Amino acid sequence: MAHYAVRESPPLRGEIPISTSKNAVLPIMCGALLTGEDVRIERVPELTDVKTLCALLASCGCSVKKEGDALVLNAGALQNPQDEEDVRKMRASYYVLGPVLAREGHVELSLPGGCAIGARPMDIHLSSLEQMGATIEIKNGYVHADIKGRLKGAHITFHTASVGATCNILMAATLAEGETVIENAAKEPEIGDLIDLLTAMGAKIEGRDSSKLTIQGVDKLHGAQHKVIADRIEAGSYAIAAAITNGRLELINAQASTLRTPIEILRAMGVSVEEGKDSLLIDAKGKTLTGQDIMTDYYPGFPTDLQAQFMALMTVSEGASLVTENIWENRFMHVPELMRMGANINVHGHASAIVRGVKRLSGAPVMATDLRASFALVLAGLAAEGETVVNRVYHLDRGYEKLDEKLRAVGADIERIKEAD
Ligand code: EPZ
Repeated sequence: MAHYAVRESPPLRGEIPISTSKNAVLPIMCGALLTGEDVRIERVPELTDVKTLCALLASCGCSVKKEGDALVLNAGALQNPQDEEDVRKMRASYYVLGPVLAREGHVELSLPGGCAIGARPMDIHLSSLEQMGATIEIKNGYVHADIKGRLKGAHITFHTASVGATCNILMAATLAEGETVIENAAKEPEIGDLIDLLTAMGAKIEGRDSSKLTIQGVDKLHGAQHKVIADRIEAGSYAIAAAITNGRLELINAQASTLRTPIEILRAMGVSVEEGKDSLLIDAKGKTLTGQDIMTDYYPGFPTDLQAQFMALMTVSEGASLVTENIWENRFMHVPELMRMGANINVHGHASAIVRGVKRLSGAPVMATDLRASFALVLAGLAAEGETVVNRVYHLDRGYEKLDEKLRAVGADIERIKEAD
């Protein structure tokens, strides 16, 4: 298994191109299952999560063609998913549920399990489909969902503004009979991107970027072309790479409007952030950074997917920072690893941690159990004395395209080391 060797690096300088968003492209690819015509998705990032989903879509009878960095998907011969391993491998596999049920009238899908960051229930997805007329049964680890005729429009109120459930029910509702209203829908930019694709396919959706979505079901959707938005979490992660090394990085394609809260926190810590039309200039040259409190929340609040990376920055910023995690019940797994590197962190319960800045971290062998926590350890490694070995790189491969290439190009000392199996 490969690992990253990260060594203390000089201030990073230069430009990093931000890839397209992992969390936008996954539901968008599943949106292609809603039509029998070609859906062409431009600028698809090379990530293992995308590869896994391609395999799952292929097992749903969807043809998957790669044309340069575009994917052309055609679900003319849609069927129930056959490849169980891919379902279990990735949580986002639940996105096939809504589209396959809406078109086929029946789905059997292995329930994706929980994961390191939390239990990750699916009650909102399932109860919403029931409200739309589906009969749902859970048997032997499978969801069995059936409808007679078409799904029916319904007025649904989510108890939590779930990103996944919003995407799933939105997709299902595009082909339902009549009007569906989703109250307390999630407002993440990735949902707006999915709405843009569905609208280009002929769906009738009102309320983009708001917590109330109204969908008028149509009989059929058609093919479309779509360009995926930039990855705000990747951009935020590299902004911290600039800050933690006292460097100066221009993040090309980054959209400031999707990163309002993290930008505010960076500025409060003492980092200069200049907003371009399609870029961000992060400058921490010669700056002494100070700790700030952060509290994760639904969009536009502070994103949980940047909590670990900001915590890494706080470990070497002056003073104390209180980090509160409100979305996932187990998202502090990076803490013991950062402490192995000399960080001073006290966790209280499962939702809050006090970080007291230290002068210096020191390199150590570390490993993380999720994608963002792994990136936090790479960041800490850039600022730590000596060498940090980050194990289990497959987490990083799921969501950061060309990570080592991008970092090396701006001066980071990072190497991917392949080990014999
Ligand atoms: C998406 O996960 C992202 N994944 C996650 O990013 C991200 O952390 C999360 O949204 C929150 O922003 C993808 O987009 C593929 P949720 P999702 O449903 O959709 C509760 C990363 O690192 N909930 O919005 O699975 C749930 O327990 C990943 O890229 C229910 O109670 O998250 C959680 O507390 C990690 N019942 C909250 O809602 C449900 O039926 C938010 O979950 C569904 C969710």
